Amino acid sequence: MLHSNDNPPTDNSDSNLSVKDSFELQRSVVLGCGAYLPERVLTNTELSTRIDTSDEWIRKRTGIEQRHIAADGELTSDLAAAASRRALAAAGVAADEVDLIVLATSTPDNTFPATSTRVQAMLGIKQGVAFDVQAVCSGFVYALSVADNMLRLGQARTALVIGAEVFSRILDWKDRSTCVLFGDGAGAVVLRAMAPQNDSNARGILSTHLFSDGAYYDSLYVDGGPASTGTAGFIRMDGKEVFRQAVNLMSSAVETAVAHNGMSVSDIDLLVPHQANIRIIDGIGRRLGVAGERVVVTVQGQANTSAATIPLALTAAQDDKRIHPGDIVALCALGGGFAWGSALIRW
Ligand code: UT7
Repeated sequence: MLHSNDNPPTDNSDSNLSVKDSFELQRSVVLGCGAYLPERVLTNTELSTRIDTSDEWIRKRTGIEQRHIAADGELTSDLAAAASRRALAAAGVAADEVDLIVLATSTPDNTFPATSTRVQAMLGIKQGVAFDVQAVCSGFVYALSVADNMLRLGQARTALVIGAEVFSRILDWKDRSTCVLFGDGAGAVVLRAMAPQNDSNARGILSTHLFSDGAYYDSLYVDGGPASTGTAGFIRMDGKEVFRQAVNLMSSAVETAVAHNGMSVSDIDLLVPHQANIRIIDGIGRRLGVAGERVVVTVQGQANTSAATIPLALTAAQDDKRIHPGDIVALCALGGGFAWGSALIRW
């Protein structure tokens, strides 16, 4: 298990990303969020004309009503750049202030280079670094953790943390047990390193907590890849096993985060869980004792967009004015690997 705020910075002065010579850790403050969903909407009813499923089954078992599907030729980088432009506008930050881009995706434009470098170019950013993180549905929490640690250590000042996916391209549209569950989309968050303050109510990311257990590799995977088949492959999932683990592992990751900060679950103003299935989301709320009005739910309109669900949900909460400066916001996610994690933020 990795906690983000346990260790003092190490001397990294040989690196081209030098750590500033201060042992006063900075804090990463969220300045704004943005989202992008492709125009095309695919409803359950339309899906039921193509495969043996029904609107009733999908709604009842998952809460999903529709999903967005990227247009032909619309790539992960297009979605990511659109979400990033909106996040920068919401944050009041110019693209040329960004010196770090961490993009979480399992559906990169190409095997390499990192899709984030294309986003960097699309935004006209010439400085700083851009790289991708791959932790499937937990990708955004992983990317947030990496960016937060770099900002805290002074390796960058302003970060774009993005979750962007075109899962429609890795779905087996003949497999009704998976193809009804996923959609395409992107969300982005702008983080800024702020000087440390002797204020226990200072805003910023309080901690992040990452976990993985490769014993579950075969429970949720893609049956292709450059080293195995040379093809992109399709999602294969033992849905029942994922479901069984998801509530427990995401709930305990949130419990770890609040305990780590000397808080209790009742201190959480807003819980933003990964959006895969309303039954999993409700299960986490019940297990933690967080009432429904404190849980952000977007799965009905977007389905599971993997690494994009959390920044999409954060943007919905921002735009609906459900999230306010100073709120305690808890994030949690679980996906293939298994890889899971949580983050606690004073917004
Ligand atoms: O981000 C992390 C990734 N994924 C997840 O978090 C997903 C976790 N798992 C789940 O959400 C649920 O396990 C599913 C939604 C995937 C499945 O729900 P379930 O209640 O576990 O259903 P099931 O797999 O037990 O299937 C029940 C029945 C089966 O028929 P029989 O064998 O009982 O006759 C399936 O063949 O439902 C059938 N079924 C469907 N029927 C209509 C499976 N998919 C469909 C479908 N439409 N799309």
